[in-house]
Amino acid sequence: TVEKARAKAPEGRKVAVVTGSARGIGEGIAQRLGRDGLHVVVADLPSMQEGIDATVAAITEAGGTATGATVDVSDEDSVAALVQTAVSAGGHLDVFVANAGIAQVKELLDYDAADFQKILDVNITGVFNSYRQAAKQMVAQGHGGKIIGAASIVAFRPFAFLGPYSLTKWAVRGLTQAAAMEWAEHGITVNAYGPGIVGTAMWDLIDEKLAAKNGQKRGEALAENAESIHLGRVSEPDDIARLVSYLSGEDSDYVTGQTILVDGGIQF
Ligand code: NAI
Repeated sequence: TVEKARAKAPEGRKVAVVTGSARGIGEGIAQRLGRDGLHVVVADLPSMQEGIDATVAAITEAGGTATGATVDVSDEDSVAALVQTAVSAGGHLDVFVANAGIAQVKELLDYDAADFQKILDVNITGVFNSYRQAAKQMVAQGHGGKIIGAASIVAFRPFAFLGPYSLTKWAVRGLTQAAAMEWAEHGITVNAYGPGIVGTAMWDLIDEKLAAKNGQKRGEALAENAESIHLGRVSEPDDIARLVSYLSGEDSDYVTGQTILVDGGIQF
């Protein structure tokens, strides 16, 4: 796995970075881009090394190529180093998916300054760092690129107990529009995806809170919320990954500045 993880991208292959891809939606995106024929740099926190290795292994087993890397997106130097890892692996950077994010599930009155700062650091500063470092490289290369961020349904419609999280996702939506305007002249498109409910570790936190609050059994909140989705089920990471596949390919060349909901038609 380690040998394969250090694999160089084959000549002519596009190179994509996906942050937060040791598990969850990011893992699904990394696998999908690997199947699309891109060389994927699977990046996550150092504490997630096992998951990074597992995602790299899944991509290579499916016939793709990938490089594992560690990053803390809240640190701009760390993101700059990640971009350099991608360039060393593949000679260039074509797609950057700023997927990493954290959630906190609690009432506004229960926050302290440190909790609040933490979510801003990862979800806002992390996306700011990712967009900027990706664009810096793409502008220098001079042949455009695709930058994609993780927003959420709560970037449009807030959800109780996710106030600061919702604030950060509205921020991603705003930054995505501004970045799209600034970088259009360089042939770079910037878009974001807005999932509704994806049954990942992150959703598990929300389910735990709702279960405690409403006296429900674990999993009941998820099932109840699933009833409010037109398509009748919560999403799999690959539902999101298929939108990211589109946003990272040439079929979306005329789409920029958008936050696109991929939520199965959720109503809450
Ligand atoms: P997850 O918690 O399963 O995975 C997030 C990944 O990001 C983890 O592997 C984590 O280690 C990594 N990460 C956290 N902080 C990081 C940092 N500072 N630097 C680098 N990596 C870091 O979450 P999930 O559900 O896969 O979410 C992925 C993205 O989609 C997030 O931005 C989330 O806000 C967004 N989203 C998720 C929804 C859901 O229902 N699960 C709904 C809407 C949006």
